[in-house]
Amino acid sequence: MDRTQIMPRDIEQDIQAAGLKVRTLIANRHPKVAFLLGSGLGGLADDLQDSVVIPYTDIDGFPTPTVAGHDGRLVFGTLNGVDVLFLKGRVHAYETRDFTSFKMLIRTIKHLGIETLFTTSSSGSLHEDMPPGAIMMISDHINLMGTNPLIGINDDDVGPRFPDMSDCWSNTLRQSLRTCAEGLDIPLHEGVYVGFRGPCFETPAEIHMARVIGGHAVGMSAIPENIIANHCGLRVMGCAVITNFAAGMVGGEHLSHAHTLTGAKLAYENLSRLIPSFVKTLS
Ligand code: HPA
Repeated sequence: MDRTQIMPRDIEQDIQAAGLKVRTLIANRHPKVAFLLGSGLGGLADDLQDSVVIPYTDIDGFPTPTVAGHDGRLVFGTLNGVDVLFLKGRVHAYETRDFTSFKMLIRTIKHLGIETLFTTSSSGSLHEDMPPGAIMMISDHINLMGTNPLIGINDDDVGPRFPDMSDCWSNTLRQSLRTCAEGLDIPLHEGVYVGFRGPCFETPAEIHMARVIGGHAVGMSAIPENIIANHCGLRVMGCAVITNFAAGMVGGEHLSHAHTLTGAKLAYENLSRLIPSFVKTLS
């Protein structure tokens, strides 16, 4: 038997070292929230003031994203008067079978004393009234990735063996974002995110199934991060950034990653107004 499949690598020491390094580089400041930015959305970190940029490669155990649009940097800075941390670039479940680097990223956030994780994920729409450029706040998810980052021996010091997921996309945070969107007159959809592992885009039959089982958007991210974050006690908020109609939906459009990056640009302006307003609610 391959013991590495069931024995967790003790990453606690690596997390502590990573936390210490980041804390030193950001001069012991205390960011209130971390944003994990999806494909093509990394530019949102450019609006930060007094920023400190830390490449993931400077931190042992941090992931090296391999996908265009994910550049692999932590950016600390001030947004609307609030200290925040942006994680530009993530890894995806289709890039690896080992979730260690996902855990490093998320649990280092927790180690820094941050309580809130906000994820943005480019996604395909399952509904005609959510076109490319729409923003869908994730109210719940369905995990069709065929895996779970908590598989293996549980670290009881981090979180329970069987985590409760009934508020895994925080209701309280969603209420705050709804209020911000109303105040700014930004249309904000809300719905269920269905996660496929990828890397293929879904087939039209898979998309049909995702609609039938209650999904509103599909993507290849968000869920592993959400599970790890909930497990270690972070509150999680997430937005699916609609970059395209899902496979088979509108006139058999051909899907590509370039499509995703172009679609993300459409939502960019609204997100760049929504995020500073949301951040203010945490101060
Ligand atoms: N499917 C899965 N992931 C995605 C999509 C999609 O249609 N668009 C952007 N990310």
